[in-house]
Order: sequence, then structure tokens, then C-alpha cells
Amino acid sequence: MSNNIPVITIDGASGVGKGTVSSRVAKHFSWHLLDSGAIYRILALTAIKNNIPLDNEPSLASFAINLDLNFKPLEELRTEQCAAAASKIAALAKVREALLARQRACRIAPGLIADGRDMGTVVFPDAQIKIFLTATAEERAQRRYKQLKEKGISAKLSDIVIDISERDERDRTRSIAPCRAADDALIIDTTKLSIDQVVAQIINL
Ligand code: C5P
Repeated sequence: MSNNIPVITIDGASGVGKGTVSSRVAKHFSWHLLDSGAIYRILALTAIKNNIPLDNEPSLASFAINLDLNFKPLEELRTEQCAAAASKIAALAKVREALLARQRACRIAPGLIADGRDMGTVVFPDAQIKIFLTATAEERAQRRYKQLKEKGISAKLSDIVIDISERDERDRTRSIAPCRAADDALIIDTTKLSIDQVVAQIINL
């Protein structure tokens, strides 16, 4: 794969702040932003609406190939229920395969910020800069709770702790494209850092 268009990959577990950090960095450089989680979420929502079982790999893969990526950012995409369904279908090899070329096609000049779980390891292994964000499970649950509340989505902190730990466990231990830092990624522990501090650190790189 040879492509000189610059990419910064920002991977990490759920609730670590990837979304906010990625969109801030993209805005700073006026680069494109790939929110790969949103693709898995929209596919999950499409499956649910079409009564496709979340383990029907061939059917989900054909939906993935034809998925409209120019969807409106719907509120229902942000629920933990949708995220859990996304995490189930994201473990399927044919689904990931179907989405690979489409994600790579987002590498458009002047540059791309790619937010996800496998951006640095699988989708853009030749990225110029790779970041892997971490934070303690408690801190991530708190952040997710705050974020949902701000969006007016009702949630219980204890439920979020259970939901995101189940989802992380599945994302970390799946056999295909597990959530992990690339060997050449810079790992930033964000537990005690503000969004501004994380953004500044990435921009400085
Ligand atoms: O990042 P977000 O929470 O929106 O992702 C939802 C789910 O989509 C994740 O829990 C994960 O299972 C899946 N995902 C993935 N690979 C990516 C991005 C998201 O498997 N690159």
C-alpha cells in the first residue's frame, strides 16, 4: 500500500475520549475525520431495523458492502444498546473485510484523522503517526456517563460500567482486528489529562 496522504490514527477503548480528541485534531489541521465506530454502529442499526440476526455473517457483510456512509448522525446511534450490537457484528471477519476498502478510501488530501480500534494495526498500518489512548475503566465509565447525560440520553452509571467492560472485553479479545496498540503507536494515558492536554500533545507530535 503506497499512499503519501498523511494519516494520524487514534485508537483506544470505549469512553477514552477518542471521538472528541479526534474531531478537535481534525479541525485544527482542517483534515478529514473517519469515525470508524460510527460505521459499525450504523451497520448494527441497519441490521436491527431489518431483523437481521447479529450473527448472520453473509447477510451483514452484504449490507456492509452497500452501506450508505453519508448517514445523518442519529441520536439512536449513540446509545449503549447500539454500541453493544456494533461490537458483536464487528467481531465478524466478513463484515470487517467488507468495510476495509471503504475505510481506506477516506484517506483524502490534505490528510485524515482515523478514529477507531484497529486504525493503526489493520486499516492504516503505514500511518505516519499512531496514537493509542488509555484511561482506567472507572474514568472511561464516568466520561461516557457525562457524555450521554449531556446528550439527554438517560443512563445509570452502574449499567455503563457493566456495558463498557463487556464491550471492551469483546473488542480486546476477538480474533480479528482486536483493539490493541500498534507496535509503533504512542500510548497516552489520559486518566489524569484534560481533553486540551491530549489534543495539544498530539498536535505537537
Ligand atoms: O468507537 P465506538 O464506540 O463508536 O465503536 C462502537 C463499536 O464498533 C466498538 O465497540 C467496536 O466493537 C466496533 N469498532 C471496531 N473497529 C473500529 C471501530 C469500532 O470494531 N475501528
